[in-house]
Amino acid sequence: MDASSWVVLKFGGTSVSSRERWETIRDIVQDHIENGRRPFVVCSALSGVSDELESLLQGVIEGSHEAILADIRQRHLDLAVQLGVQPESTLLPHFEQLSRLVMGASLIQEVSPRLHAKVMAYGELLSTSLGAAFLNCCGLNVDWIDAREHLVSDSRKLTRALQRYLSAHCQFTPDDVMQKDMASRSANCILTQGFIASDPNGDTVLLGRGGSDTSAAYFAAKLQAERCEIWTDVAGIFSANPRMVPEPFLLKRLDYDEAQEITSSGAQVLHPRCLDPVKQYHIPLHIRCTLNPKLESTVIGDFDSSDEARVKVIAAKSGVTLISMETMGMWQEVGFLARVFDKFSEHRLSVDLVSTSQSNVTASLDQVANALDPASIEALLEDLQEVCAARVIGPCAAISLVGRNIRSIMHELGPALKVFGEHKIHLVSQAANDLNLTFVVGEDQAQRLVRELHALLVQKKLEAPKENQTEEREMEDDEVSGAHVWWRKRADELLDMARDESPLFVYDEETLDEAAESLLAMSNVERIFYAIKANAHPDILSRFYHAGIGFECVSPGELDHIVRLFPDLKGQSERMLFTPNFASGEEYRHGFELGASVTLDNLYPLEAWPNLFKGREIFVRIDPGKGRGHHKHVKTAGEHSKFGILPTQIPRLLDAVKKADARIVGLHAHTGSGILTYDAWIDTARFFTSLLEQLPDVRHMDLGGGLGIPERPGQPVLDTVAINESLRPIRLAYPEVAIWLEPGRYLVARAGVLLAKVTQVKEKRETAFVGIDVGMNTLIRPALYGAYHRIVNLSRLDDTRRETVNVVGPICETGDTLGYNRALAPSQEGDILLIATAGAYGRVMSSSYNMRPPAAEKMLARR
Ligand code: LLP
Repeated sequence: MDASSWVVLKFGGTSVSSRERWETIRDIVQDHIENGRRPFVVCSALSGVSDELESLLQGVIEGSHEAILADIRQRHLDLAVQLGVQPESTLLPHFEQLSRLVMGASLIQEVSPRLHAKVMAYGELLSTSLGAAFLNCCGLNVDWIDAREHLVSDSRKLTRALQRYLSAHCQFTPDDVMQKDMASRSANCILTQGFIASDPNGDTVLLGRGGSDTSAAYFAAKLQAERCEIWTDVAGIFSANPRMVPEPFLLKRLDYDEAQEITSSGAQVLHPRCLDPVKQYHIPLHIRCTLNPKLESTVIGDFDSSDEARVKVIAAKSGVTLISMETMGMWQEVGFLARVFDKFSEHRLSVDLVSTSQSNVTASLDQVANALDPASIEALLEDLQEVCAARVIGPCAAISLVGRNIRSIMHELGPALKVFGEHKIHLVSQAANDLNLTFVVGEDQAQRLVRELHALLVQKKLEAPKENQTEEREMEDDEVSGAHVWWRKRADELLDMARDESPLFVYDEETLDEAAESLLAMSNVERIFYAIKANAHPDILSRFYHAGIGFECVSPGELDHIVRLFPDLKGQSERMLFTPNFASGEEYRHGFELGASVTLDNLYPLEAWPNLFKGREIFVRIDPGKGRGHHKHVKTAGEHSKFGILPTQIPRLLDAVKKADARIVGLHAHTGSGILTYDAWIDTARFFTSLLEQLPDVRHMDLGGGLGIPERPGQPVLDTVAINESLRPIRLAYPEVAIWLEPGRYLVARAGVLLAKVTQVKEKRETAFVGIDVGMNTLIRPALYGAYHRIVNLSRLDDTRRETVNVVGPICETGDTLGYNRALAPSQEGDILLIATAGAYGRVMSSSYNMRPPAAEKMLARR
C-alpha cells in the first residue's frame, strides 16, 4: 500500500474508556479501511489512569501504593469484561511488570524520573492492549505495536533528567525503516500508544502531558500520512472556550500558524507541540468528535488566510506567573537582558511573554511549558536578586486576541478595550508574527473579560453583514424565508433552457412583479424609481414602466436607453431621474435636455459652470454622514466617500445656487447598497427634515435605494411594511414634501438566476472543485465583494448535498471562485448548476475578460 494512504488517528482518554467508545473507534477504523486508507491508531490511557499512576508513584513513598495498584487493575479488568476480552493474555503480563517496578521502588523509597516514566507508560500499554484485543475480536486485523520501538527521543535537546524523561522531544523526519516495516505487515490497522517513546539507550521516556497528540503528529510525519485525525470529546476549536462563553463559533479551517497560536494561548483541544510535525510536511490535521463522528469540525492545514484581518478567538490561559524585575541600573546598560534571561535558562524555565521599560522587565512563565513548581520559582528569584529586585505577580491569566493581521485592526479594538475598565493590566504583548495581542491580568478577571471581548470582537463582527468572508454554511430553503426560491418550482423549464444555451441568466417575470408590487404598496412613498444600473434588460424595464415605476439613471447612456424604449418619458421629471457623479458639464446639459430631474452631488458644477443651471430646478445630494451596505465598496456616504455635499457646506451651496440663478427643489441621499435594517431610510428622512428650514423650495426627498435582499444563510428579509410605517410621521408632518425611493437590487435580484454547465470536477488534497462554464467575467460580485450567491445542482435537486466543494469558473485568476465550501449534491460533467439571486449587478457588470463572452439573458414568462 502506498505511503500516502496512512491515516493516523488519535483517541484520547475519554474515547477509550468504555465499550461504547471502542465500538465507535471500530466503526471509524472500518470506515477508513473501506475508503482505501490504512489506519494507524494512537491511544491514550483510560481517562483518569495517568492521574492514578501519578498518585501510585506518590503512594510508593507514602506506603499507599497497594490500594492504588488494585484500583488501577480493577478498572482495566472491568473494561476487559465489558469488551469481552480475556485478561490473562492481554493484561496480566503488564500488571505483573508494573507491580514489580512499584515493589522495587517502595523498597528503596525513591522514584527517579527514569522510573517515573516507566511506570506512567503502563497507562497506554494497558489501554492499547485491551483495544487491540477488542478490535481483533470484532474481526479487524489489527497489529499492536510498542510505540517505543519507533519513537526515539532527541536527547541532545534536554539535559536535565526531569525533562529528558518526562518531557522529551522526538525526531520526526520521514522514517523509511518504519514505513517499510508497516507496509510489509498484513494487518490492515496498526494500534499503538501515545505519550510514550524511548531514548537512544532504550529507556522509556514521556512526551509531557497532552503528549498523545504529539505522538500522533510524530507518527503522521514519519509515515508521511495522508492526514492526521485527533478524536476528542469536543467538537473542534471554537472562537472561545465554550465553558466561558455561551455560544462560541466553531472555526472550520485554520492554518497551522493560527492553530499554533490558538492552542498556545490556552485552547485545550490540542497540544500546541503537535502542530510542528504536521506543518512541516503539510499534513492536514482534523479535529473530530467521538461523540458525533459524522460531524466535520476543525481542519488545520495549508489555508492561506494571510489577507484576512480579524480577531478569530478570544483565548484565556490561567495559571500564568509573572516575574517582575526592577532595576535602576538598566537604562542604557549593555547586557542586562542577557544576564536576566541567563538565569531563566539556568533554571530551565521557558519565558512566554516579555515587556520592558526603562527600569522594569516583566516576563511570564506559563504552566504548561514549565511544569512549574514553587521550589523552582523560589530558586529563580533567589538567583535573580543578584542582578535586580525580582518578585512574583500572580495568579494571573493571559487573555489573548488571536487572529490575522491584528496590527491593521488596532483602531477597531479601541472600544473593546474599555472592558478592561479599572482593572490592572500587568503586561501587554503584541506578537511579532502579528497573530496575537495578549493582556495579562488578575486570574479572577479572566472569565468576564473573555465573555465581553468575545461579544464585542467576535460575535458582533460575525453577525454583521459579512465582508469578504469565506462562507461557512449553506442555507436551507426555510432558513431564509422570503428568499424566493421560485426556481425550485420551475426547475424543469430552467433545465431545458440551459440545455439549449449555457451559461444563461434567466429572469422570472412573476418574481419581478411581486417585488414591484411590494414597493408600490408603500403608501407613504410617493414614487418608486428603478435604478437601472442594477439590470437594464428591456423586458424588465418594460414591466416596471407599465407598473408606473420611474427610472433612475446615472449616465447619458442610461438616459438614452430609457428614452429610446419609452419615448413618452422625455420631459417627465417625475418619471426620470439623472444622478451622475463627477460627470462633465456636457452630461448635465444632456439630462436637462431630456427633461429628467437632475441631481448635483458636488458644489463644483454650480461654481464652475453656473450658466448650465441658470433658471433650472435642481436636486442636491447631501451626505448624511453614515454609510451603510453589504461591503465597503458600496457604502456611499460618510467622510471617505466621494459622494454628496456635506451639510456644513449648505451656506456655500445656497450662495452658489443663488449666483447661478437655480432653485433647489429636491434633496437626495443614498447611503449604500444591500441594507437589511428597516431604519436606514427613516434616518435619512429625519436628517433631511433638519435641513428643510434652510431650503424652503424643497418639494421632494429622495431617500435613495439600497434595499437589500437575503443572500446568505440567516439574513433577514427586509420589512418593507416597517419601512413604510416608519415614514408615516414625516409624511404627516411635511405633507408638501413627497418621499421618493430609488431601489435597484430589491426589484430584480431575486428574480434572476444564472445557469451554468459543469465542465470538470477535481480534487486537490483537502479541496474539491466543481468547474462550470461561467466565471467572474459574467458574475464579478463574489470576487469583488466576497458576495454570496446560493448555488445548487439543478440537475440533482433531490440528491443529498453531501460534498463540500469550491465552485470555480474558467477565468485565469484564483479569484474566479463563485462559491467556497459549498454543500452540493455530487456533480458530474454536464450537470446544470443554478446560481441564485443573480438578477441584480450580474450581467450589467460583466465583461469579456479572457475574451470569453458573458452569459446571455432570457425571460421566464408568467404561467
Ligand atoms: N441610487 C444611487 C444613487 C446609487 O448609487 C445606487 C447604487 C442605487 C440608487 C441603487 O442601489 P440598490 O438599491 O441597488 O442597492 N454593484 C454592487 C452595488 C452597487 C450599487 C451602486 N449604487 C453590488 O453588486 O452589490
